[in-house]
Amino acid sequence: MLGQTAPVTAATARSILRRVQPAIGELVPLRRSPIQGGINYRRLTLWRSPSHGSSLVGIVWTSGQTAHIHSHDHSAVCRRIEGEISVTDFAQLADTRLRVLRHTRIGPSTLTELTEGKTIHVVQNIGSQDAIDLHFCSKRGDGMALRYEALWEKSTFSVGEELEVTTYPDHLPVVLSTLDD
Ligand SMILES: [Fe+2]
Repeated sequence: MLGQTAPVTAATARSILRRVQPAIGELVPLRRSPIQGGINYRRLTLWRSPSHGSSLVGIVWTSGQTAHIHSHDHSAVCRRIEGEISVTDFAQLADTRLRVLRHTRIGPSTLTELTEGKTIHVVQNIGSQDAIDLHFCSKRGDGMALRYEALWEKSTFSVGEELEVTTYPDHLPVVLSTLDD
């Protein structure tokens, strides 16, 4: 079975996610899963490697939802299934200083990736419908996912702008169920 004898590589995850297209009804459990604290999105673990710590998770960003600035303690290959999100990427200039790198709108069928400890971003669903993603997540690394809070409350970011930030550990529900479920 996938991921049982050897870890799923990023190349394999890309290959699978490029082709996946959930049938009507297959996303119902994800659409009905509870809103998670922290980022306030719906997140459901769909598959987990029994021995390598990787997982396939579904995410629903509801219309108008905006996440805080954050990094991840895992890498992931991400496939947009439906809807459109806006992603703002940041570069880390120092422990407490970020620069706005770019804004990207990501529509249906797009494949993107995030890198453990390096990808720092804000995700917004600026559309009128849910935005649904499938993420193949690597096992958690040694580093910690971080939440970045600007010293002054901000809702928009200009490319090139620099921010003074405070960082906090960011505890996201990457794994929601036990292996026995
Ligand atoms: Fe993220």
